[in-house]
Amino acid sequence: MTAADLKNGFLETLANLGDVGGLAPAEARGLFKAMKSNHVYHPFVAVADDGQIIGATTLLVEQKFIHSGGLVGHIEDVVVRKGHEGRGVGGSVVKAAVDKGREIGCYKVILDCRPELVDFYKKLGFREHEVGMRIDLARPSPSGARTRR
Ligand SMILES: CC(C)(COP(=O)(O)OP(=O)(O)OC[C@H]1O[C@@H](n2cnc3c(N)ncnc32)[C@H](O)[C@@H]1OP(=O)(O)O)[C@@H](O)C(=O)NCCC(=O)NCCS
Repeated sequence: MTAADLKNGFLETLANLGDVGGLAPAEARGLFKAMKSNHVYHPFVAVADDGQIIGATTLLVEQKFIHSGGLVGHIEDVVVRKGHEGRGVGGSVVKAAVDKGREIGCYKVILDCRPELVDFYKKLGFREHEVGMRIDLARPSPSGARTRR
């Protein structure tokens, strides 16, 4: 993914995830810059023949203390632009993220998904494993108060 992709339908593609909110192009550029300067994030896009972005995902790479300091890839925000589903686009961005995880040296790549998407990921070689858990937290205030870890 490059910064230019942000202008070629990337935000319109993300909208199919349902929670893009009012993300403005300038905000998206700032977020992309922060992501690119952090070697943990690897965003991918699928590009149609006309240059429009029609699919996207992100691979996050986690450094473990356990497993001899091994690396784990986490796939997030897999999405295909409305009207372009069912043509292999989703599968191709997931495969690209898994390939990147392999190239980096991850010993596994994992993701959470809704139950109805289990078969989609099984077709791409994933198997069901453990259960996703979640706790909802208040968004941090703009003043940026932080807690020491
Ligand atoms: C789910 C989503 C990413 C699938 O992408 P896609 O481009 O439509 O899927 P593909 O065309 O690559 O499908 C690959 C295979 O999975 C199957 N598949 C696709 N969606 C499926 C679903 N919801 N359930 C079961 N199988 C599915 C396809 O039939 C295809 O099978 P085949 O290889 O035997 O023909 C896309 O529909 C989407 O963006 N949905 C909205 C956002 C979303 O839910 N994201 C997932 C977050 S975890």
